[in-house]
Amino acid sequence: MPKLLSPAAVEAYRRDGYFAPVRVMTAEQALQYRQALEAHEGKLGQPLQGNLRHKVHLLFTWADALVHHPKVLDAIEDAIGPDILCWNTNFFIKEAHSPGFVSWHQDSTYWGLDPDEVITAWIALSDVTEESGYMQVIPGSHKVDQLPHVDTFDKDNLLSRGQEIAVDVDKSKAVGLTLQPGEMSLHHIKLVHGSDANRSNDRRIGLAVRYIPTYVRQTKVRDSAVLVRGTDKYHHFDPEPRPRADLDEAALAAHADAMGRQVKALYQGTEKTEFRA
Ligand code: NI
Repeated sequence: MPKLLSPAAVEAYRRDGYFAPVRVMTAEQALQYRQALEAHEGKLGQPLQGNLRHKVHLLFTWADALVHHPKVLDAIEDAIGPDILCWNTNFFIKEAHSPGFVSWHQDSTYWGLDPDEVITAWIALSDVTEESGYMQVIPGSHKVDQLPHVDTFDKDNLLSRGQEIAVDVDKSKAVGLTLQPGEMSLHHIKLVHGSDANRSNDRRIGLAVRYIPTYVRQTKVRDSAVLVRGTDKYHHFDPEPRPRADLDEAALAAHADAMGRQVKALYQGTEKTEFRA
């Protein structure tokens, strides 16, 4: 028996490589998460940048709560089974009227995870519409092989290497995923997806949470992850500690260690030592 998704939703995820929307919290609760993020940005005097946009669940107790959210995990369990690691989190924030975009890509390109049973919960903390630059997907594209990508390192591209698919994507087949605050979309690691710039008056804020079943391996480096549900009998990943207080010394050390491994895996073959902004 599925825990949150209907059997038809699970079937749609397997067939199409995505499913949306899934309501996981109220709009008020989503606003509280947004306010926690923006309170920190207020102290910084600027939006989150660089490495601080990634693996945020190791830095902030509220982000740790979000990746452990029971409804999020119920949906993930329905899709990938009961033993679940959180491998990564990435904030995809597009400021109001800003040029940032995400080129067409498959997440699988540089992650080094095998097999490809990897799912993203993309949780909306703001209104996500066509105008604000919602995610667009090519249904069923997760069933094709890994496509060749080229690295552009375009400054407005929000991806780690500005990677984009090197062959033509049939945009007439694209479906846009509209989300309200507190809803999420689910997508498969090989699904072809991208998004345009934010032309709206508000920030577009999404937290992409990457979950894997415990049997998945990292083929590039000795990596780390957090067990968020069930048991891990494989130990393919070193366990990461949960933050006890926002940005305390232990949290910062754990984040630095985990990000070092991520950068090694994702920027393999380049000179980069930290994430682009
Ligand atoms: Ni992606």
